[in-house]
Amino acid sequence: MILRAKNCIKDPFMNMSDTCNRTLSDLIEKNDGLQQQKFDMVRFSKSSVERHPMDQFNKMQTEYEKFIKVNQFILCTSGNDNKPSARTMVLTKTSKEQTSFHFFAMTTSRKAEELEENNYATAIFLWTINGVLNQIRVEGRVNKLSESETLKDYSKLSDDYKAYYHITQQGQAVQSVSDLQEKHEKFLGIVHELPCPFHVRSYALEADSVEIFKPDGLFGNERVLYRKQIEGEDINELITSNGEGDWLIENICP
Ligand SMILES: Cc1cc2nc3c(=O)[nH]c(=O)nc-3n(C[C@H](O)[C@H](O)[C@H](O)COP(=O)(O)O)c2cc1C
Repeated sequence: MILRAKNCIKDPFMNMSDTCNRTLSDLIEKNDGLQQQKFDMVRFSKSSVERHPMDQFNKMQTEYEKFIKVNQFILCTSGNDNKPSARTMVLTKTSKEQTSFHFFAMTTSRKAEELEENNYATAIFLWTINGVLNQIRVEGRVNKLSESETLKDYSKLSDDYKAYYHITQQGQAVQSVSDLQEKHEKFLGIVHELPCPFHVRSYALEADSVEIFKPDGLFGNERVLYRKQIEGEDINELITSNGEGDWLIENICP
């Protein structure tokens, strides 16, 4: 990811040039439009949100995507040593059926090793444009997807990313990364003939809970939690609403 264009936030489904040609003034121009337009879902509560967390996530993502790319998130994991670790990841796909959030990782990486030991993880999405801000916290278990499922996702990656995945063993210490640059250029030409490297996998974070926090002044904050019923739990209908499927929805004190 650092190999070809520095100082750019990358999206594996986008050509490098598309990403780098966007300027800050592009964004500011779009933000002005945003302020005038205002989001449909600026205010929300347990009664006004979608009944399924993935519908709510998709709705908000679609709104933001009119202005900026919002497919990055922070993935937090911890292994047997109980030391939490976090890193930025790119969301490759979502599934409403599983309420899952997909991403690519190398099986040799620290995150993959930690997920082998403990597959509970948290993802944080923070979307912000000109003070219009949302935090989405997703907690659940991460499943390593099969080779065939990985292949489906891999086939949609840009050549840049495919080549990147072929030439690097993430996290390994090396003398210098300049050789990798050269290797990357070579692989770009042949990458479409090569299979998905064995150390690259698609993973899916299947949500147990999804919490949306929209700051709006100190006490105007809105916080809505989608969660599953705890075994033996009595539901107080004044506090907890039924969502789609087995999802429950609550307003949470900010
Ligand atoms: C914007 C951005 C997007 C990234 N996307 C991914 C990704 O989708 N998959 C991935 O394995 N690493 C991605 N990385 C690199 C990770 O943040 C991290 O440095 C790397 O995966 C090693 O993490 P680990 O040692 O904790 O396993 C991304 C980094 C940035 C800055």
